[in-house]
Amino acid sequence: MSAPIVTSLDELRRATQAWRRAGQRVGVVPTMGALHDGHLSLVRAAKAECDRVIVTLFVNPRQFNSAEDYDKYPRTELADAELLGPLGIDALFVPDGAQVYPPGHATTVSVSGITDTLEGAHRPGHFDGVATVVTMLFNMTQADRAYFGEKDWQQLQLVRRLVADLKLPVEIVGCPTVRADDGLAMSSRNQRLSVTARQQARALPEALLAAAAAIGSGANVDDVLTQTRETLAQNGIGPVEYIELRDSESLRPPRPCHPRRLLVAAWLDGVRLIDNVEVPPAN
Ligand code: PAF
Repeated sequence: MSAPIVTSLDELRRATQAWRRAGQRVGVVPTMGALHDGHLSLVRAAKAECDRVIVTLFVNPRQFNSAEDYDKYPRTELADAELLGPLGIDALFVPDGAQVYPPGHATTVSVSGITDTLEGAHRPGHFDGVATVVTMLFNMTQADRAYFGEKDWQQLQLVRRLVADLKLPVEIVGCPTVRADDGLAMSSRNQRLSVTARQQARALPEALLAAAAAIGSGANVDDVLTQTRETLAQNGIGPVEYIELRDSESLRPPRPCHPRRLLVAAWLDGVRLIDNVEVPPAN
């Protein structure tokens, strides 16, 4: 049995109001569809902690940097509903573009600082699109908890900042990145890799983990990052947009005694891949 699809905001609101009146905890998993095991792990976490679970599916035009990327984004709504069927969610909310951005829509939510760097620097406007749609999805679903994957680490930190700054009554839960057997982080964009490129892609998480281990054991960061770029190039991965060691929370340069994260964005076979790993504390 497929998950129940709800397309109307009024219908969703009637359901969530009844759940909330009954004192039930509502969880939401925001997605753009083309669901994979990474999404399903978020849904399982939500199911384990909430009485009701909504998955949202909206391919948000305002967070894409090119019309081509938006057009190419996989759209598999019915397959997504099938995949979610056995998980027993309460609603797959699929609003149409006119409900999310009706004519005259003029409000943008913009989080500064954390969005100036890494993804934000390479994808101008992307995080404004994310922050705006996520705020609307929280308001539309009235969820108590929202589940996001750590694969989009900077997005997760942005959402935490947004919720704290705007005092939104939703608790953000970050869930670990789900990886394929060869280590590649699950992503809807992986479907676009050719068979050969998909085999090459394993070099990205391998190089990232090796770099994190080297930095953790005290190697010179610049040397490690230069070496990692070379390793990626030797494996046919590139250009590398960035590979950076950052403070885990602020995404600024690392501070002594604060958690650190190594983040990368690189191209392979015309597909932009991102990944990140925790870096062990320096000895
Ligand atoms: O991570 C995603 O899939 C999207 O950025 C999100 C959070 C659903 C907003 O469109």
